[in-house]
Amino acid sequence: MDQTVPLLQIKEITKSFASNVVLKGVDISLSAGEVVVIVGGNGAGKSTLMKILMGIYRADQGEVLINGEKVVLSTPSHALHQGIYLVPQEPMLFPNMSVEENIIIGIDEKKAELRKRLRSIIKKMGWNVSLSRKAETLSIAEQQLVEILRGLMRQARILIFDEPTSALTFKEIDLFFKIIEDLKAQNIGMFYITHRLKEVFEIATNVVVLKDGRITSSGHVSDFTEELLIKGLLSDEDEKLKKESRQEEKLPAERLSTADNPVVLEIKDFCGYGFNNINLQVKKNEVLGLAGVVGSGRTELAETVFGLSKSTSGYVYLNGENITDLKTSEVIGRGINYLPEDRHLNGIFGMGSVKNNITASILKSESGFLINDNKETEKAKQCIRDFRIKVTDENQKLSSLSGGNQQKVVIGKVLASEPQLIILDEPTRGIDAEARSDVYRIIEKLKEAGNAILLISSDYEEVLILSDRIEVMHNGTNIQSFENSGLTMDRLTEASFGVIDEVKEKAAEEE
Ligand SMILES: Nc1ncnc2c1ncn2[C@@H]1O[C@H](COP(=O)(O)OP(=O)(O)OP(=O)(O)O)[C@@H](O)[C@H]1O
Ligand SMILES: [Mg+2]
Repeated sequence: MDQTVPLLQIKEITKSFASNVVLKGVDISLSAGEVVVIVGGNGAGKSTLMKILMGIYRADQGEVLINGEKVVLSTPSHALHQGIYLVPQEPMLFPNMSVEENIIIGIDEKKAELRKRLRSIIKKMGWNVSLSRKAETLSIAEQQLVEILRGLMRQARILIFDEPTSALTFKEIDLFFKIIEDLKAQNIGMFYITHRLKEVFEIATNVVVLKDGRITSSGHVSDFTEELLIKGLLSDEDEKLKKESRQEEKLPAERLSTADNPVVLEIKDFCGYGFNNINLQVKKNEVLGLAGVVGSGRTELAETVFGLSKSTSGYVYLNGENITDLKTSEVIGRGINYLPEDRHLNGIFGMGSVKNNITASILKSESGFLINDNKETEKAKQCIRDFRIKVTDENQKLSSLSGGNQQKVVIGKVLASEPQLIILDEPTRGIDAEARSDVYRIIEKLKEAGNAILLISSDYEEVLILSDRIEVMHNGTNIQSFENSGLTMDRLTEASFGVIDEVKEKAAEEE
């Protein structure tokens, strides 16, 4: 193969949805063994560009070349035929089948041949994969590896990752980066989309900054710094705002003790599916951070408090009233709302408009038969402003928003009902750096207004920024509590892997 011709070239790609031009003459080239990281705000056009490579969308103009030759990518199987494979963020495996079966299913070749080929790929990569394990026993990170192998077995030379680390724990991310390095060494070319700028410097060979459908800068990773990246991502208006607020940022507000605040939520000796013997309180004007690794039982706990599953023993009190095992509609009626981890399974209406989605929970809480449309529109517009949701107007269909913007709508929906206690499960997953600080600001505002907030997050930086107190869960139990002063990320990480302070350990032994 001619080494001077890139593996893949994107030339002058333009794409519109109705009158909305989302890609405006994009040029990118990818060579074998390179990782091109694409960064850009929510709605910048990253996923759309990748979907064009995958044959899911057709570009209006421009072309794609592979090894210097123009290709037609009109369906995902065309794309795969050209060696392009998208590794889905949430892999879709058959839970009852083995790893091996999941990888080779659907490839038209003799089974013995397939098995031989699979083993040789794994060996070449230097990976250690247990092929006989059932897919249902795999962690998300392991499932991703299965997806990568699915691509490699189908002769993929170009892999696409769209926010691959957003569902992984810190440890898993390190392993995942090692896998990327191995793929690089085997001359696989990769596109990698992320909102986590630190990742850029760990794995990128090249960087592309996409803003409103246009490339604003690109080049070798060594030409970039984190500051330059942030600068490239900000709009001019944002930059002005940032400068103005920098003065304030230097003086972090002193965290007031919440010890004497009235208790809003109390969980006592609470047991259920995935968690055991939980004891905790969330107070008025307080954010309680619930830290722990994926699988530590935090989401299961939240879902049970919210009435989505039944507990086996113990109690939940809201303002002193027993609300254990009430139905979800009753729990909402009492004043609790929940932002689920999986936004798609829980109460968003893709076919509905942005406005309808934002106001759906207000309609429930406000009695009366007549809906005040002006009020509804005003509320929706405010939310769009507050979170800088990228829409043509409030009547745009939710399903046509970018991933991050859909999430902002769901957050807006939960907050619009102004509950007394809000449970937020991974509130900034998939959200860009700018919107992330908007979400933080709104959480602070809610807290000041008297709300109690239970924050579940695997992003410990986030937990440390927002929480007044922190409970750490490990294997289904809350094993340690911290006041959030002088607490470090390392200490929190240790605790979430089960390392608890000696003092507490002794007390537990004596019990
Ligand atoms: N099927 C569609 N119909 C109409 N508009 C769409 C459709 N898909 C995407 N868009 C619009 O295209 C723009 C770019 O969306 P895209 O999903 O590519 O953004 P992104 O950069 O991946 O953002 P995020 O970081 O939020 O995932 C957005 O304004 C979005 O609303
Ligand atoms: Mg996207």
